[in-house]
Amino acid sequence: MTPSGEQSSYGPIPKSLHWIAALCVLLAWTIGTIGDDIPKSMEKAVLSIHMSLGIAVLALLIVRLLWRGVSPQPALETRFSPWSGYLASTSHWLLYILMAAVPVAGILLQFARGEALSVFGLVQIASPWTSDRALARSFKEVHEVLANALVILAALHVVAALFHHFVLRDRTLIRMLPGRHRFE
Ligand code: HEM
Ligand code: HEM
Repeated sequence: MTPSGEQSSYGPIPKSLHWIAALCVLLAWTIGTIGDDIPKSMEKAVLSIHMSLGIAVLALLIVRLLWRGVSPQPALETRFSPWSGYLASTSHWLLYILMAAVPVAGILLQFARGEALSVFGLVQIASPWTSDRALARSFKEVHEVLANALVILAALHVVAALFHHFVLRDRTLIRMLPGRHRFE
């Protein structure tokens, strides 16, 4: 694994960051979406898992962006039209933006409720505000809309990855799959 230089595949670090973050996003979204159907007795524990998954997404994203700074992205596999490369990088940056904005809106929601933020149960960050129901309601709406936008964009992203694999038959998906760490 080299931190720099030309490469045509993702290394083990970006691959791990990608798949762990993808899993955390999907689990956090599922828990958030089914949240209202969870029995009252379990609500606190489940919300705490939800928040830990969301904070993990934010932490993994920061590491991912730092890693991008030292190790360039592999060149795009196939450009099937003049704008496809532009579309691919725009959609990746939109995913990054939403992967930051959703947890930030969640943290603001927690603070607007006047509640402390527990970071993996290790550190408690006190809310800088007293409880404000109207503000919390607004943040909850923003959090939900952004979370749904993230999952919709991720679904389109999966369709694009499958299109590359099954229609264009290039290595776009293969080089992000676990196991092949060699830069071919
Ligand atoms: C990628 C990460 C995240 C995703 C995809 C996500 C998704 C969601 C969704 C879909 C809801 C349901 C919204 C609704 O029904 O109105 C929700 C609720 C919520 N989320 Fe997140 N969230 C994430 C991260 C976070 C983080 C980091 C925090 C705070 C630290 C957080 C705090 C909350 C809170 C407090 C609720 C309201 C729960 C309730 O009382 O009903 N979320 N989230
Ligand atoms: C919530 C789920 C997901 C999110 C948020 C997400 C996000 C991202 C982001 C930000 C990138 C840019 C490169 C990087 O940072 O490593 C990327 C690349 C990639 N993702 Fe995902 N992803 C998700 C799920 C998936 C799934 C399920 C698949 C497979 C079907 C997939 C396949 C790929 C591939 C093949 C690339 C490389 C594309 C290229 O090199 O042009 N992703 N993903």
